[in-house]
Amino acid sequence: MNSGDITQSQEWTALAKHHEEIAGATLRELFAADPGRAERLSVRAGDLYLDYSKHRATDETFDLLLRLTERAGLGERIEAMFSGEHINVSEDRAVLHTALRLPADAALVVDGQDVVADVHAVLDKMSAFADRVRAKEWRGATGEPIATVVNIGIGGSDLGPAMAYEALKDYADAGITARFVSNIDPADIHGNLRGLDPATTLFVISSKTFTTLETLTNARVARDWLVAALGEDAVEKHFVAVSTNAEKVAEFGIDTANMFGFWDWVGGRYSYDGAIGLSLMVAVGPARFREMLAGFHAIDEHFRTTPFERNMPVLMGLLGIWYNDFFGAQTRAVLPYSQRLHRFPAYLQQLTMESNGKSVRADGTPVTTDTGEIFWGEPGTNGQHAFYQLLHQGTRLVPADFIGFAEPYEDAAGMHDILTANLLAQTTALAFGKTAEEIAAEGTAAEVVPHKVMPGNRPTSTILAPKLTPYTLGQLVALYEHIVFVEGVIWGVDSFDQWGVELGKKMALGLEPLLTSEEPPVAFPDASTAQLVKKYRELRGR
Ligand code: F6P
Repeated sequence: MNSGDITQSQEWTALAKHHEEIAGATLRELFAADPGRAERLSVRAGDLYLDYSKHRATDETFDLLLRLTERAGLGERIEAMFSGEHINVSEDRAVLHTALRLPADAALVVDGQDVVADVHAVLDKMSAFADRVRAKEWRGATGEPIATVVNIGIGGSDLGPAMAYEALKDYADAGITARFVSNIDPADIHGNLRGLDPATTLFVISSKTFTTLETLTNARVARDWLVAALGEDAVEKHFVAVSTNAEKVAEFGIDTANMFGFWDWVGGRYSYDGAIGLSLMVAVGPARFREMLAGFHAIDEHFRTTPFERNMPVLMGLLGIWYNDFFGAQTRAVLPYSQRLHRFPAYLQQLTMESNGKSVRADGTPVTTDTGEIFWGEPGTNGQHAFYQLLHQGTRLVPADFIGFAEPYEDAAGMHDILTANLLAQTTALAFGKTAEEIAAEGTAAEVVPHKVMPGNRPTSTILAPKLTPYTLGQLVALYEHIVFVEGVIWGVDSFDQWGVELGKKMALGLEPLLTSEEPPVAFPDASTAQLVKKYRELRGR
């Protein structure tokens, strides 16, 4: 059972000692000493294949890390999540994004409510709506069919559908494109409305709370744009909402018959596989959306039922702990060799960092080790020509996840094989490097040799999947959701609240009148901010 501070446990101490023993070992040595390593340290989950042999870890490392799962009570915590216990303690809520992808014949009653029936009622309503839009039965106020869906939302109400739409664009087969507006920066809404025809545009206002400043402000601008062109009555045919807050939706002027709901047990960053995915569903169709849900569910089942030593999210979560807390690595790079996944790192940033960026444990006591890996990344090969230099020869240790696919959606001139060759070349070079002797043997001038040395010993995971489809995308996202869960359980934090974003929001509300006022400034929070407010007003001529 999880009792108190895990860093005080004997399991943690054993890992610290083991780290001292093997920190100097190189991947070259580990591979040379163990011909079966690659085969043994690889695992399958659904369609995903993970090679985790290029890690600075031995069988003993994994034994010790797995003992940590027992100490943290990971098995019980997984069951607690899947069965709907209120594991989000600071908000006293269940955490049931896994219920969003349960098949219709599954059974789950939580807090007296048949969750599966609720989920499928919404999915069916979304599907019926998406089908009507795609079949040109749902038309705009002038009778024209919808050509563009504009999702207005932020954070979890934007990043999920935006990432997935980009990933699955090739499957958008009804001639409907999607755009995503999130930022309060007016450039975002203006840029996205440019070139659109109000008569063929549908706005999906996505906000769990329906109180988020950015979303409501952008929604009002969109509404004014539409009304200026088509009149007030057009709102009904051009605005739908996704929210848990029917009252606020109605207050905004959207008919709640055109609202798609979800529940407080779905966190924003875990929500695009429910109604928040409506814009995606309109673009790719309900059948593809449901394939994606099946992908999520396949990994949920893997996570829930596979012994931890073969459990992909568990192994990857434990490796995150290993580097973060024992090697002192600060960040993890996520490097998809897929241009379609160019928003995946941004999506993961919210998923992982809003979840595990915590300094106190679930019981309110301070953590005593680093939590919350910093996720970042870019698709390969672009990243290779930008920041990989630091990965190869910099002073920092940056463990990286490489993600590749066997089949492209479409190919040209063998490009996909070249892409994959690059992925493999990078993980090989990162792991095994090149020694001074090897470089000198190539005839390199002695003074240049040190510059060319590739230290190697840089750890990577490689995830390979057959093809980027709705089904594999669902698997990939669920994999990372559960990695976050595993790490959160080990650290003992509440991965499902996000109080840290509230203070800044409140302060912005207080500061805005100070920026816009013509009156002499009063009540400034501090000297630096006072000076910046003054400067801003000067620059704006106020
Ligand atoms: O930034 C905080 C946050 O609450 C996120 O967790 C959430 O995804 C986002 O704001 C948007 O919230 P809402 O969907 O309620 O508009």
